Amino acid sequence: MTDADASRGGVGVVVVAAGSGSRLRAEVPKAFVPIGGRPLLAYAISTVAALEGVRSLVVVVPPGYDDTSAWPAGSGAALPTFAVVVEGGAERSDSVRAGLARVDPSCDVVLVHDAARAFTPVSVFERVVDAVRRGAAGAVPGLPVIDTIKSVDADGVITGTPERDSLRAVQTPQGFDAAVLRAAYDSGATATDDAALVEATGHHVIVVPGDASAFKVTTPEELRRAERLVADLERAPAS
Ligand code: CTP
Ligand code: MG
Repeated sequence: MTDADASRGGVGVVVVAAGSGSRLRAEVPKAFVPIGGRPLLAYAISTVAALEGVRSLVVVVPPGYDDTSAWPAGSGAALPTFAVVVEGGAERSDSVRAGLARVDPSCDVVLVHDAARAFTPVSVFERVVDAVRRGAAGAVPGLPVIDTIKSVDADGVITGTPERDSLRAVQTPQGFDAAVLRAAYDSGATATDDAALVEATGHHVIVVPGDASAFKVTTPEELRRAERLVADLERAPAS
């Protein structure tokens, strides 16, 4: 940590890993599905551990998984000593809320990251932190969309064609001024992602460049993609 970092509040990270992974249809919760011999969650934790300025890490796991000594081999290898493990809730937002409650209150920036986006490069985390440090209330990684997107009604009739240039497919980590994120979760508003919750409380959230590697492991097809990625990394380790 540099002197400049030390004078700041530090970065808190909530990794949400409490989902069951119903679309993946594996025998264990998605975060504990092995890829190249390590659980998916281990990759996400390793990246957070490599990020500078992290003062607090809360890993939110499925009920019954909060005893790290019972985790499969390799899952906790990179867990920093200051990490806290808590059980999540029924919805992702319940899990984020449970994690946020345990983030060190001295952190002035909080990132919320999906364990399922386990291969997000550390550079994406850095871009998000930098944007919040530069004054954004919130910053999320996003990529331009390739397909033309249509909105439809309940009968499948197209109701609109948003201009593609104005669209971004967003990823995690989503980063926020800590007070703004806490207030958004306290507001009682509901939303599908953390950025939308913060938007709903009247704050501007900006999009920074995301990365194709930040894809979300959701279906067996993406699990195979993750396996290929890990195999490629093992053949050509990053220098
Ligand atoms: N998540 C969570 N708590 C929940 C639901 C989801 O912490 N109650 C986390 C997941 O572990 C994942 C991230 O939120 O890292 C994104 O959710 P998703 O990809 O939908 O994972 P699951 O909900 O586990 O998968 P599915 O929707 O297929 O059941
Ligand atoms: Mg889900």
